[in-house]
Amino acid sequence: MAKVFVGQIIHTKSLKEFVLYTNGFVAVDKNGKIAGVGENYNLWFSNKPDYPPNAEVITLNKEQFLMPGLIDCHIHAPQVAQIGLGLDMPLMEWLNTYTFPLEAKFTDQDFAAKVYKKVVETTIKSGTTLASYFGTNNKDSTLILAKEAVEQGQRALVGKVCSNCNSPDFYVEETIDSLDATKEFVNDMDKLNSNLVKPTITPRFAISCTMELMKSLGDLAKTHNLHIQSHISESVAEIDFVKELFTCSYAQVYDNAGLLTNKTVMAHAVHLEEEEMLLFKKTGTSVAHCPASNTMLSSGFCDVLRLIKNGIKVGLGTDVSGGNSISIQDAILRALDVSHHLEFIKKQDIKGCGKLPANTDNAQYTPLDYKQAIYLATLGGAEALALDAVCGNFVKGKEFDALIVDTSVYPLHNFGLYNAEDYAKKSDEVKLLEMVQKFIYVGDDRNIVKVYVAGKQIKATTY
Ligand code: GUN
Ligand code: FE
Repeated sequence: MAKVFVGQIIHTKSLKEFVLYTNGFVAVDKNGKIAGVGENYNLWFSNKPDYPPNAEVITLNKEQFLMPGLIDCHIHAPQVAQIGLGLDMPLMEWLNTYTFPLEAKFTDQDFAAKVYKKVVETTIKSGTTLASYFGTNNKDSTLILAKEAVEQGQRALVGKVCSNCNSPDFYVEETIDSLDATKEFVNDMDKLNSNLVKPTITPRFAISCTMELMKSLGDLAKTHNLHIQSHISESVAEIDFVKELFTCSYAQVYDNAGLLTNKTVMAHAVHLEEEEMLLFKKTGTSVAHCPASNTMLSSGFCDVLRLIKNGIKVGLGTDVSGGNSISIQDAILRALDVSHHLEFIKKQDIKGCGKLPANTDNAQYTPLDYKQAIYLATLGGAEALALDAVCGNFVKGKEFDALIVDTSVYPLHNFGLYNAEDYAKKSDEVKLLEMVQKFIYVGDDRNIVKVYVAGKQIKATTY
């Protein structure tokens, strides 16, 4: 049934265009597609004879607003089972000590089913309407993850992970098995016949894949026009190992394999060199910025504004469980933290450390603001996953992926200030922006009271 959401609405059109409607509407048709957006539903409707008059009208109260769903461009579903563990270790040690042994357990389909059900439930609860998931090397359990997303109504890209070298004996594939299982996975996903959940080709990273495997995966992606995801330039030790193995830059390795495309998202890109950024731009490859993980695993500072200035699309990723939070709202805050800390490094005379040599780039650096971070978490993510024709913001013809945020419920409080005389004097725009700020800086999943994907409400009220 068609539905119209009436009330306060926010979304973005680009990094610099944040749009708000204080008395707005989003009209959704019976197929879950957006039929109209703007201020003043009655006026729009009176000029729109083809829109059904019996559409359900959902009127938000004055402490609620509607926003696009959050997009997680990089999350390892199996790692939710170890979230919070080993985060005092650097990347390679954390992978060997915790991650590979855990992921190897996903040959057990019952265990996988139990974990993946919770993963999809909790990401939806946190407002993630679209996730780009890594599964494990195990094809069958990764298919369970995809089915769970279909079942619960989440939009998702799901990848069977491929690793055929430099991995522990208990968690490594033969080249041919990795490729065959990936082909079967793509076929099995086709049979699911889901509009929302699609396969993505997933070489784990250049360290754990031979060039032969990566090339075959690149060919497969090209033949079937598939999405691709992997990791790049996360930690210095990792990069050194890649250079030792392939004797060229990290990005060049992937490009040689045909893995850099306009449907590729690479996680991290913390230490990308100038020529590597050029390769990303030329091929249309995007970046999943994972600030929590970059801090937790001591990988480094990623200057996302540098990537964006160089023409690279960027979205946000939780990188659970390198990141310690499943929430993209938390990733927004962590991206803001990193961006502000970068400003300090670029401009401050840090006591005990000194000051970087003055240069114009450093002097002119302005950190991300919360509106830009919301863009990264929504439309930026859709662009990074090459799904911006489908979702990411409220545009006629796109599918309706959205959250209703309620700023009157815990952990936010309304102390009656909204009714005070001075508050009443503020413009409706300022009031709405203050509500958005409260949600972004202080709120959490309890303030996300409803979640919609393709027009269908998917957040359950109790867990
Ligand atoms: N690089 C290769 N595998 C992984 C992983 O599981 N997590 C992170 N953060 N980096 C990786
Ligand atoms: Fe990762």
